[in-house]
Amino acid sequence: MHSFAHLPALDIDAVRQQFPALATSWALFDNAGGSVPPRSVIERITRYMSTSQVQTGASYPLSQAATAQVAQGHRAAETLVGAAAGEVVLGPSSTMLLRLLADGLGARLQPGDEVVVTDLDHEANIGAWLRLQRLGVVVRTWKLDPETASLNPADLAQLLSSRTKLVAVTHCANVVGELIELDPIVRMVHAAGARICIDGVAYAPHRRVDVKALDADFYVLSLYKVYGPHLGLLYGKREALLEVAGQNHHFIDESNLPYKLEPGNVTHELAAGLPGILDYFEWVERHHFGEAAATWADRLDRVFALFEAHENVLMAPLLDFFANSGGQFRLLGPTRASGRVPTLAFTAEGTRPQQVAHALEAREVAIRHGDFYARRAIEAFGLREQGGVARVSMVHYNHPDEVARLVDGLAEFAQRK
Ligand SMILES: Cc1ncc(COP(=O)(O)O)c(C=O)c1O
Repeated sequence: MHSFAHLPALDIDAVRQQFPALATSWALFDNAGGSVPPRSVIERITRYMSTSQVQTGASYPLSQAATAQVAQGHRAAETLVGAAAGEVVLGPSSTMLLRLLADGLGARLQPGDEVVVTDLDHEANIGAWLRLQRLGVVVRTWKLDPETASLNPADLAQLLSSRTKLVAVTHCANVVGELIELDPIVRMVHAAGARICIDGVAYAPHRRVDVKALDADFYVLSLYKVYGPHLGLLYGKREALLEVAGQNHHFIDESNLPYKLEPGNVTHELAAGLPGILDYFEWVERHHFGEAAATWADRLDRVFALFEAHENVLMAPLLDFFANSGGQFRLLGPTRASGRVPTLAFTAEGTRPQQVAHALEAREVAIRHGDFYARRAIEAFGLREQGGVARVSMVHYNHPDEVARLVDGLAEFAQRK
């Protein structure tokens, strides 16, 4: 985390007022599934649809205005992750973008080339690569270390060879919320002459994504979990994207980035809403720091430092509760705030995860249960049979009072069962 001499506390009441959907009596703790959008995003989408929704790309002024707003959406997405112009592909979801990427890279691979996937990842960053087996590509699995229930870079070293072309790995485990230290992994992959494809879906709502500092080749995230509309974002280094076979019409040039990977174009009104995410971050910065920092990188550092500090405040009572539950609840993943985001997966002794979720619903607390499409991780943890885990996923707009309600609900559940 960036250190600031004077980091103010997040003004949670003012923050919540930016999100119309938070005017509900429910505590929303399924944010790793999807976050709600701030007013600024909704307003931009509404404005586009009310004033500009004609087909883009024509010469008449209204069409030019529509084209410009969609282009601004691409610029905002680039700013969000620190990419250069043309390096961000927008699409309907991370799953679809990873499919597109894998198919585009697959067209350039030879039988016997190798790809490494993990069994910690969401299926989106596994299944897309497994499909390449039909082309003779060999897929190897970097398995969880049974001692630590985490990924051990030494195990990756055993899997890399001159045949490895790509490693697909997560930046943060979507079930257990563990942050993965990527720097040594990226270095190892690059030293082997391979590319890295990082799933940042579970990371991006909580920390600033800086694709250049990471030296990522490819990076995906779901904008609808980062306070935006339902779109996915795929970053690729320019030279890496140029290597990928275009997935658009045959006459769209291979150098036409990002359009060669946006067949059918992006959903215009949603792309037009994307600058609303930055509008919101700008408001957060101004509200807490007064003046704006000189660069977007610094501004995003400030905003995410505020978010992280608040998230740690939210997490503390829940971590304490699990630690002192006398074995009634078992938290998966890191037991301290450092090394994790506030996505907390747990099991309750002698019950199934859905019973916990249903019990909390009686208190208007919304959590979720299941495998969260990280089915291999749930299998590796030995939790498939019992229906996976219960998962509480918080973001910066959650209120400490909501966490208190959740903890009370869990305590009552433990007493009653
Ligand atoms: C870590 C992770 N990767 C990928 C995905 C798939 O994202 P999308 O719904 O945008 O396809 C999810 C969705 O929950 C996720 O949590």
